[in-house]
Amino acid sequence: MNTPIEGFSKLTKEEKIAWIAKSYTTNSNETIAILKRYWNTDETLQKLHDEFIENTITNYYLPLGIAPNFLINDTLYAIPMAIEESSVVAAASKAAKFWLKRGGFKTTVINTEKVGQVHFMYTGAFEKLESFFNLIAPKLKEDAKDITKNMEKRGGGITAITLRNKTAELENYYQLHCTFETLDAMGANFINSCLEQFAETLKNEFAKSPEFKEHEEQLEIVMSILSNYVPNCLVRAEVSCPIEQLNEDNNSTAQDFAEKIVRAVQIAKVEPYRAVTHNKGIMNGIDAVVLATGNDFRAIEAGIHAYAAKDGSYSSLTNASIENGIFKFWIEIPLALGTVGGLTGLHPLVKLALEILQNPSAKDLMQIVAVAGLAQNFAAVRSLVTTGIQQGHMKMHLMNILNQLGASEGDKKTLVHHFKHNTVTHSAVIAAYNSLQEKE
Ligand code: MEV
Repeated sequence: MNTPIEGFSKLTKEEKIAWIAKSYTTNSNETIAILKRYWNTDETLQKLHDEFIENTITNYYLPLGIAPNFLINDTLYAIPMAIEESSVVAAASKAAKFWLKRGGFKTTVINTEKVGQVHFMYTGAFEKLESFFNLIAPKLKEDAKDITKNMEKRGGGITAITLRNKTAELENYYQLHCTFETLDAMGANFINSCLEQFAETLKNEFAKSPEFKEHEEQLEIVMSILSNYVPNCLVRAEVSCPIEQLNEDNNSTAQDFAEKIVRAVQIAKVEPYRAVTHNKGIMNGIDAVVLATGNDFRAIEAGIHAYAAKDGSYSSLTNASIENGIFKFWIEIPLALGTVGGLTGLHPLVKLALEILQNPSAKDLMQIVAVAGLAQNFAAVRSLVTTGIQQGHMKMHLMNILNQLGASEGDKKTLVHHFKHNTVTHSAVIAAYNSLQEKE
């Protein structure tokens, strides 16, 4: 039976490893060996990674792949993707190549507004709070000058602070709903620092105000935090082509194929069970680029899923139409991304990923990420309405199964060739592997 540990964070890395191995694993030596095998031999680089978080014991690798041939607004990109799922990079590459021959992706950034809120409770008449707020509004900005001056020099800063009465939803609940322009920074630290300053000013000015001195009203700050819901930080990505250009194989006509895609998207529009999986496929592409470029994929996930439910029911993030013989497939999503600050200047692979993307601005990155999501969805829906998803998935998964079985390089080559003409299932791979072993 394990007991709680005091002062774990103060132990050395070796001590932490020894403790976790002894307390929670059956073979301490093996645990220690695995953890150390993933240490980087370059001590400076390892130290950098150790210091990203607390209590680091080793590194956790994800493959970093490249999906080439993405033509976006007439510029050709090779997109770095960090992801563990075997078919994602292959699917993205296939979709990129498909659309490369059909004019590529067209994208636009619609807006770039970030949001943060000071949540507070106030007991009293709203009108009185409103006139107090109007009085102190300039001071809220004034007191935050030290935080905002550099951002303002670059053309960003606070764009609005509004008082919102939320008492219909929760008794005595109000907020300062604030919007920001953070340019190439994701802006979390900037926004949170501004909000905490607004809260401080609000509290102090309330305490000093003669209007409230004699009376019963109370104002209590609950919290100050940015919102990951950014419905006005939107980007749109689109592909389109005349229907006849969709013809790639002889199994279905181009018209038939286009209609099947439109129908699949319509289903994801109206059926939440399908929409969640449909959007999960989109996030395969989005998260992989977000992660490779050192951005916060949890924030992006939260914001995008909330956006998918903005009309009251969870729905598809992509759209498809056929009009006047033109097939159109597009996505519109909120993406609060940064290409400066955070990990972007710190993690060598993140820096490299950004360099591969030609050092994009945050707006450029929004467009690239939206394209990765759209491409991924096109690839998934295309497989789903034609061959089914398993054909491609299992082909990619074949190598994982062979590695699990401990197949030699020679066996892998033979079996990959064998499964070019046979259906890949877990049991079929095991059977083929066993029969190869028996022959050898
Ligand atoms: C698997 O990771 C993603 C898919 O399920 C997406 C979809 O169904 O559209 C293939």
